[in-house]
Order: sequence, then C-alpha cells, then structure tokens
Amino acid sequence: MGVDLFAGLTNAALPPLDRTPRILVFDSGLGGLTVLAELVATFPYAAYVYAADDAAFPYGALSPERLVARIVTVMERLIDREAPDLVVIACNTASTLALPALRARFALPFVGTVPAVKPAVAATRSGLVTVLATPGAARSEHTHAMIDAFAGSVKVTLVGAPNLAAFAEAELRGAPIDDGALAAEIAPCFVEEDGRRTDAVALACTHFPLLTRRFRGLSPWDVAWIDPAPAVARRVAALLSASPMPAGPPAERRALFTSNRTAPSPLVCALAARGLTTIEAGVSPLD
Ligand code: DGL
Repeated sequence: MGVDLFAGLTNAALPPLDRTPRILVFDSGLGGLTVLAELVATFPYAAYVYAADDAAFPYGALSPERLVARIVTVMERLIDREAPDLVVIACNTASTLALPALRARFALPFVGTVPAVKPAVAATRSGLVTVLATPGAARSEHTHAMIDAFAGSVKVTLVGAPNLAAFAEAELRGAPIDDGALAAEIAPCFVEEDGRRTDAVALACTHFPLLTRRFRGLSPWDVAWIDPAPAVARRVAALLSASPMPAGPPAERRALFTSNRTAPSPLVCALAARGLTTIEAGVSPLD
C-alpha cells in the first residue's frame, strides 16, 4: 500500500533534558486518559498537559484531509503555548492519519498510538483476531497496511464502531450508556468460523479501554481485550531513558479542552482522579 509503517520512528533516546520532562498528551477527547494513566504510572514525576481537541470530536467524522489540517493547526498552538519536550498522540485516528505531517512540521519527538495488531496476533490461539477501531481509523490506509504487514496466517476482522468513542465520552461525563447499545457496537467483534472463535480484540481507539469492564460483561465469550497504552509508555520510556526523573513531588498536571463547554461534575471528578485538577476550556478554539 506504499505506507511506511515506521516513518520517522527512531529508537534512539533523546539527549538528556535539563528539566523535568514536560509531556503533552493529545487526543480528540477523553480517550487519551487511558494512555495518560499508563504514562503517569511509568513516569510519576513528569509534568503532563492533557489536551483534548473536543471542539472537533469525534475525529472519525472528519475527512482525512480536514483532520490532518486541523490537527497540525491545533498542535502548532499547543506547542507554542505549552513548550512540551515530547508529544504523545494518544489517538489512533490522529496517529494513523496525521503522524507523518506532524513529524514533518515540528522538530519535536512524537509518539503515536497505532492499532495493536502485532500484540493481538501474538496473543491469539484460535487464529481469529479483531481490530476494533473508530470508523476513521478503520478507513485509514495505515491501519490496513498494519494488518497486511503483521497478520500473517491470522484472520483479522476490522470493525469500525460508529458510536463507541462517543459512548465512552458520555460515560465519563456522567451519562451512562445502556447495555444493549454497547453490546450492539461490539457484536461484530465476535466471529465463529470452522469451530474457532475470536479470542483477541485489539482496542484501536484510546477511548475503548475506558469501557473494557463493560465489554467483559457483555461479551458472548471471553476474549483478550488488548490496550495499546503499555506499548506507548514503553516507547516514551525508551525516548526519555537518558533523562533521569527528579525525585520530589510530581510536577503539575493540567487538562486543556479546545471547546468552551463546561465540564460536568462527574467529568471534573474523573479528571481529578487522574491528577488533572486544573482544567482550562476554550483553549485555541477553531471554527
Ligand atoms: N481516541 C480516539 C482514537 O483513539 C478517538 C477518535 C475519534 O475522535 O473519533 O482514535
């Protein structure tokens, strides 16, 4: 397909930083919190800015061209404002479409989140794996190229779930989603073929691990739900390995939202539980 899966990636550590590393974690909404949690567990003393481009949520609804242009513009403003040392694109949809443009435009290390096809293929015993993505990531050439590159003899079913990311947002904002609606979104993940059943599902949207507990209760049979966040944290660890983390209290953590919406109290609590006690809304709103 002509996609270089590893374009712009390097395993080399960054030169040592002379200050507490400042990490910008970016998503279209709240899904990147699943990646933030893994990063905080790995680097509790780093400074974190969590930026949600919620004015444009869901990214899966935008055309690839509009999405790439928007992400580059928002990122420009965030980088000017926050001066991060490293950016984690905690969004499969954004990573699969916009990482090459971001790496070309900014002289900063970007770590992306891509569908965990390899770990799912390594985990399956039945040979039936599902990649559960947003419609945008399911359409992305990069996602298809990863499946072509890593599936081998494993049969991969790619599911673009239309509403799951929005459902995860709603749950965190205190508007629970009923079981039937959630079960309908994940139903296509479960394939039975020649006496075999899907046994591994790669969660190819960072919102989805927010719902894993619900998925377990709604699954027709047990599967491994594979979260990409640990792999992202390992990659950040490799890049920051030359910069020893300072001892002392954890540095600041802030949440930024591009929309002007006021966070409802369940969301304020969910953010505070993740150490994000400062919330700024209306940051760099765009049309
Ligand atoms: N968390 C994003 C992802 O991983 C959600 C994308 C969207 O906004 O549609 O793909």
